[in-house]
Formats: sequence, structure tokens, C-alpha cells
Amino acid sequence: MIPDKAPGEDVLHASGDLKKEAHIPSFEKYKELYIRSVESPEEFWGDVAKDFFWKTKYTGKFLDYNFDVTKGEIFVKCMEGATTNICYNVLDRNIYERKLGDKVAFYWLGNEPGDEKTVTYRELLQQVCKFANVLKSQGVKKGDRVSIYMPMVVELVVAMLACARIGAVHSIVFAGFSAESLCERIMDSQCCILITAVIYSKCVPWNPEIDLCWHSLIGGASEECEPVWCDSEDPLFILYTSGSTGKPKGVLHTVSGYMLYTAATFKMVFDYHSDDVYWCTADIGWITGHSYITYGPLANGATSVLFEGLPTYPDVSRMWEIVDKYHISKFYTAPTAIRLLMKYGSEPVQKYKRSSLKILGTVGEPINPEAWQWYYSVVGEKRCPVVDTFWQTETGGHVMTPLPAATPMKPGSATFPFFGVVPAILNESGEELEGPSEGYLVFKQPWPGVMRTVYGNHERFETTYFKKFPGYYVTGDGCRRDKDGYYWITGRIDDMLNVSGHLLSTAEVESALVEHEAVAEAAVVGRPHPVKGESLYCFVTLNDGINYNQKLEGELKKQVREKIGAIATPDFIQNAPSLPKTRSGKIMRRVLRKIACNERDLGDVSTLADSSVIEQLFENRCCTA
Ligand code: PRX
Repeated sequence: MIPDKAPGEDVLHASGDLKKEAHIPSFEKYKELYIRSVESPEEFWGDVAKDFFWKTKYTGKFLDYNFDVTKGEIFVKCMEGATTNICYNVLDRNIYERKLGDKVAFYWLGNEPGDEKTVTYRELLQQVCKFANVLKSQGVKKGDRVSIYMPMVVELVVAMLACARIGAVHSIVFAGFSAESLCERIMDSQCCILITAVIYSKCVPWNPEIDLCWHSLIGGASEECEPVWCDSEDPLFILYTSGSTGKPKGVLHTVSGYMLYTAATFKMVFDYHSDDVYWCTADIGWITGHSYITYGPLANGATSVLFEGLPTYPDVSRMWEIVDKYHISKFYTAPTAIRLLMKYGSEPVQKYKRSSLKILGTVGEPINPEAWQWYYSVVGEKRCPVVDTFWQTETGGHVMTPLPAATPMKPGSATFPFFGVVPAILNESGEELEGPSEGYLVFKQPWPGVMRTVYGNHERFETTYFKKFPGYYVTGDGCRRDKDGYYWITGRIDDMLNVSGHLLSTAEVESALVEHEAVAEAAVVGRPHPVKGESLYCFVTLNDGINYNQKLEGELKKQVREKIGAIATPDFIQNAPSLPKTRSGKIMRRVLRKIACNERDLGDVSTLADSSVIEQLFENRCCTA
């Protein structure tokens, strides 16, 4: 459980200035509210819900659920009976009730310096209404699924909010995914329409019978569009995440719970105040962008930067130049970006003042203490607390995170649970461990923003998250709790890899490899990488009579890029005439991981069918990518 007082040793504290105006100014306040959030969720979330517009109030329990597969179907329902519209709440409410119409919603920046535009809340609403009318004119109705495959442009936000306005369910596919991955997601979600962007310099195959141009449609559309009132548990969006079987899972989030949760986490974790300028460098194609570029910030009436460019273009100071130009006060990025910039030293950072910065956040993977210290000391000059936010596509928003003025920080620890979240650490037999311990990170009860199902496959939802330990939501991550009660995420404990903050399943990459005619079998493992966190190390066994050479290696990399996307491009491919297997024929990935890292201490290999395989693999291992 959470200690009564935060420990005084080996921790870093936020400055007094930050505490003075913070929403949660002390650890004691955090603890008091935390207990309330867990014991009386209705009261706690009721206060959050007061800020929003509800067409009708909820009738049943605030949060109704079953997390125990042995007792029946898994479900979570939040505020059943209430009706609302999230687009209305993030735009109209801010404009008409809170008078924020002229406030900037987004400063958009392209890759080329100087390529920029500003969008106010009123302008955003106008564009959203127009596009919602376009969707309606194309026959899109409440409940229909709409695929969106776009770069980081304002139109992407417009498209997602237009869907939300008419109750359609958006399914955004990260623009770095391949055409084949997009196709798979469109088919799985049975989308009726695809919204995408084309690059003018290329020849676009255009079929006038089915392809329509955004600009010509929006030109004649009306700026008025009544929101469609949705039930709390109506679906808001589907977002695909890698699954350990190799087939991506359509994580489904619903309207009210997600709205409350992203709004509350944004406000408290970034200690949001109305004069902040916030920048999250993620892509909207991932959950971080959904929750902390679009919904959370807009629900709070925040001004954000929306950046389409690269952090290293035109030079490695770009981020800090933007921070100074827009007086960014809250900055949120990924450990992989920090490690990348760290390589260039402190000089490119110190070229800019960064005096506006107040809070720094990280997300996507465990942050190594060295990168944490650099972020804290060089970027934030030891003035800005670092919020290391642990969460998942499935959790909808932050679940384990410091609160900047309340939680003393330990570099590399995601510290304590957010309000409403009850973590536990289990051993292999499913027993809850007390005190300092290490094991599976699970959650004992739902919070409003947790996913509701895997789209079209509720059974897979139950199997993936609830079967292993009945009564708990299983994150798939390992975790350690230290003597002070701090939680430290140790990384995935299933067959998932985290490459530059992107989750990939080994099975997904393996099946892309074996689809190549030369490959008989493939096994993929992670190998630590100084910038990406993990890199993909692939072992391939070729069909008889085929020789391994550079040309084939190039083809295999291309194959994976085409099947999945550039983010999954293998870093290393090793020709493996045979793979280490147990007598029953299972590939011993644990051993392959050791080979990839050149670690000779293999542990127990008594179940290995043929041990001569190992020496051969060590001899031929890849040293450089
Ligand atoms: O392994 C954890 C890691 O990212 C996984 C979730 O990935 P995804 O659904 O793509 O969402 C990423 C953005 C929320 C988790 O299961 N992860 C995310 N944040 C952290 C983290 N690992 C350690 N520390 C974090 N702060």
C-alpha cells in the first residue's frame, strides 16, 4: 500500500513555487484523495464529472464491473444511463461556457521551420462541424467505424473529433504502418470509410467512383452540426495494439469513462493551469496522442503544440527552439527521444533558454536512470519534476505516475498509482506479494478509462487480460516494489518487444519473415539498444538448398517493412541452420536472447534436444546491424 509519508532519503522533491499553486500540493493530500478515489469512486469522479456537460444524468452505479472470469463475463460500465458527447465537451463547452473561443487550441508546426499555423477553439469547432457534415453526407452514422490514416496535421484532429461528434467510432492507424497492416485493421474493424492524406509529388491512383477530395467536400459543408448524444458506454474509438499471437487487438474505449479519465490525468499529472503551453511529441496514431494530444488537453481547454516534424531536423536543437518560441511549460516525450538527443551532449540544449519549462514527462518504456538524470539536470536544470508515466493503450490514461508537486521522485520509478487505480504484485502462483517484492503487475479493480473489450472478440479480451490470474487485470509487465513502496516497471514479461516505445509482438515479426519463400522458420528476440531501448534480433532457418547472403537479408528486411511497417524493420538477422528447441519441439527463446546478447551463462539447458546447435549460433552471431 501507499506509505503514510513519502520517504525523505534518495528522492528528489519539487520546488516550493510549484507546490504553492499545484492541484495536488503534497503527498499527504495525494494519499487522502487516493483513499477517497478507491473507497468512494462515485464521490471522487463525481467531482471530475461536474465540469462536463451531461444531456442526461447517470442512473445506475457509478462504476459497475466484474473482473473475475470464474464469476462470469468480464465487464466494466461507468455512468450507465448518462448521455453526453465528448466533442461537445472538448469544444462547444469550452467556447460557450468557458469563453475560450479565441484561445489557441493548437500551434501546428511542420517539419520545415516556418511552416506553421494556429488554430483557435472556435476555428477547430467550425472545421469539425463541417467535416462531421461531410461524413454524414457520405452516409456515416452513429456506431459506424471510420479508419483514419494520416500524418500529424490539424485535419487528423478534425477527423477524429468529427467522428466523435456524430457518434461514429474512429480507428486511427499510425501512418508509419504499411498498407498491409492498414488493410488488416480496416477489415477487422469493418470500417465504412478511410480518411487519408496523399503526397502530391507522387502519382496517386485515384478512382473517382470511390475516392473523394477533402477540400472539395468541406468547401460546401455547413458550419453547424448538432452533436449526437451518446450513451456513456457507447464506443468512442478502436485503437490497435500488438498482440502476442501476432494478430493485432482492436482495443475499444467508450465515451464517458475515457473522457473523465483523460481529463483528470492530464490536469493532475501535468498540473495543468490555464496559462500553460503544453507539448506532447507523440504521434496521434498511438494512444499517447489520442489521450494527451487530443482528448485530455482539449477537455481542459489547453493550448498545445502539434508537431509534424522530426526532433533532429534541421538540427538537434529543434525541440528546444520550439520550447523557447512557444514558451512551453509542460513537455512530454519518450525515453527513446531523450536517449537520442543525449548522444549529442548538452550544448544543443543549452543554446536555448528553456526558462518556461515547469514539468517534464516521459512515457512508452522504462526510462533508464542515466537518461532520467540527463532529462532532469540538463533539460530541466533541476527545476522541473519529471513525471514518469506508466500506462498502456488498454488503460486509456496514466495508471502509475508521480504527481509533480506531491510525489518525491526516484529516477526510473513510475512511483505510485493514479487515483482509482489499485495495483498489486503477484507471484507465478497468483499470490499477492507484500512489501518489497517483484513479480507480475496487475490491477485489482477498474478505473473509468480502462478498455472495455477487444473489438469483435470479447473472448480474446478475457483470455489476454483476465484468465491468467482470475480477479485481476494483468498488464503483461513485470514490476518491483522497493522498501519505500515505490513501483519500478521492469518491462514486458510476455512475447512483446518495445522498440523506441512501440510495442511489437515477436510472433508478428516472425510470421512476416516466414512468409518469404526462402524462410522455413524464424524466431525473434529483443536485444538491448542504447537509443531504441530494444532492437529486433531475428534468427532465420532457410529452406534446403538456399544460401544466406546480403541480397536475401535486404529482401527479408523489406518483407517485414512491407508487412508491418518501418518501425518493425529487423536490426539483426542471423542465419540459423537450426534453432535451439526442447525435446517437445518448442523454440527456447530464453537461450536465443542470451545468444543475441553474447551472454554465455545460459542457465538450465537440460531440456534442450541438441546442444551442439548453441555453439554454432554463438559463432555466427551478428555483432553490428
Ligand atoms: O511495457 C509497458 C510500456 O509500454 C507498454 C504499453 O505500450 P502501448 O500500449 O503501446 O502504450 C504506450 C504508451 C502508453 C506497457 O505495457 N510502458 C509504457 N510506459 C511506460 C512503460 N514501461 C515503463 N515505464 C513507463 N513509463
